[in-house]
Amino acid sequence: MNKILIKCLSVFLIFKEVKMKTIKFALPITVIFFLFISVLSRCVAAEDIKGEKTMLPQGTKKILVAYFSHSGNTREIANQIHAIVGGDIFEIQSAKPYPDDYHAVVKQAREELASGYKPVLKTKVENIKAYDLVFIGYPNWCSTVPAPVKTFLLEYDFSGKTIAPFCTHGGGGMGRSVTDIAKLCPKSTLLDSFSILGSDVKTAQSEVSKWLKKIKITK
Ligand SMILES: Cc1cc2nc3c(=O)[nH]c(=O)nc-3n(C[C@H](O)[C@H](O)[C@H](O)COP(=O)(O)O)c2cc1C
Repeated sequence: MNKILIKCLSVFLIFKEVKMKTIKFALPITVIFFLFISVLSRCVAAEDIKGEKTMLPQGTKKILVAYFSHSGNTREIANQIHAIVGGDIFEIQSAKPYPDDYHAVVKQAREELASGYKPVLKTKVENIKAYDLVFIGYPNWCSTVPAPVKTFLLEYDFSGKTIAPFCTHGGGGMGRSVTDIAKLCPKSTLLDSFSILGSDVKTAQSEVSKWLKKIKITK
């Protein structure tokens, strides 16, 4: 009888030990699993029209793609970005249009830069508060942002918003435009910028996609 009792007790103890080990092992794995699921669910995955997935942090309200373009290159890139990320698109326009002639516009841009002129804009963004990720596109003008973009950045409150700058250029890349945007919007988070030669915009889709992945807007 004693032998049977001892055998039962030892089986019970072995079972208990195995169970404890299982719990010790399973518990951290379960915790890690739930942590992983909760991190994943913090991202909103949305299918865009090209089949690329946007991965936006939870709480991202809306995207605005705002751009200024004089001869159409930056508009082309803005449309490519908008086709991928969705949201709203807004063209920044001066109330007084710039001349079409290249030399005339260069002369005017230089004068505006030297005087710190901020032109009145033609249209307004209805509710800037609704957006927390704003793409800002512009041509490189005299190594910085064109005056209407300066007005745009000062006209609205970009505090707490994320800004993704992009530009088209004639060889000067972003110039000092990113530094200037950072000065104009000191309370915004600036993502890595994207620049492309004006002559390459028609075939820029893969470069644009690569950039959007790099700044973790798409995956
Ligand atoms: C007034 C003016 C100033 C410019 N200044 C520069 C410059 O400093 N560096 C540069 O690389 N390109 C410069 N460019 C070339 C433009 O950045 C380029 O052509 C751009 O792609 C035009 O974009 P858009 O078609 O959207 O207006 C300038 C063009 C203009 C009209």
